Amino acid sequence: MRTKPVQQVYDDYTAEDFAVWKILYDRQMENLKGKVADEFLVALNKIGFSNDRIPEFKEVNRRLESHTGWNLITVPNISPPREFFQRLYEKKFTATCWLRKMSELDYLEEPDMFHDVFAHAPLLTNTDYTDFFHQIGVLAMKYIDDDEVILKLQRLYWFTIEFGLVRSEAGELRIYGAGIISSKGETEHALGNKSTKHDFDIRRIYQHDFRTDIIQEEYYVIDSFRQLAASLEEIEEALLVKA
Ligand SMILES: [Fe+2]
Repeated sequence: MRTKPVQQVYDDYTAEDFAVWKILYDRQMENLKGKVADEFLVALNKIGFSNDRIPEFKEVNRRLESHTGWNLITVPNISPPREFFQRLYEKKFTATCWLRKMSELDYLEEPDMFHDVFAHAPLLTNTDYTDFFHQIGVLAMKYIDDDEVILKLQRLYWFTIEFGLVRSEAGELRIYGAGIISSKGETEHALGNKSTKHDFDIRRIYQHDFRTDIIQEEYYVIDSFRQLAASLEEIEEALLVKA
């Protein structure tokens, strides 16, 4: 069994951890060329990640603070919905601080730090993205005892923050969802012809069930990050429409 730390103790990272970070980082940066949203690359620069250094949460949080006031907080495992949404409401993103082993580079039962930090944290420097993300937390806490509302917000989260696509200025499909950004296999699949793309449509997403155990078959495409930030009112209005 892996011991999962509750807090990041930087000196506890091993040579294998650094090697895993570097391999995953280099591989995904190569893999994402021409496929990831420009906003992600800008954000990666703002947050200061590199292949030779596992991010230190204190430093990441200093940078996030200066851009959007968000923070990462460490958790040993993926958070249950109520805790996850409570933290979002507080502009905190729950993240693991352990890395997969060298023997698990392509197979992972649950999100590790490469997913939570490499793929999720950079865009937390982008205010259009964080305005949208925060609204999910605000509405989840407002309607926390309404299971139907919470399910809709989980779907919205899934089809944007985890598996969202965006059109570039030149009209090409690009990735911004963290579930794709951290996955070698899904990077190709998401942009290829074997998956279906829909225009971003909140009402449709609210009715769209998802599976966590397979590569996605359908994705939603935003026109720009501004579109996310401009949708805050609609997110709540559509929530209250019964199917
Ligand atoms: Fe995630």
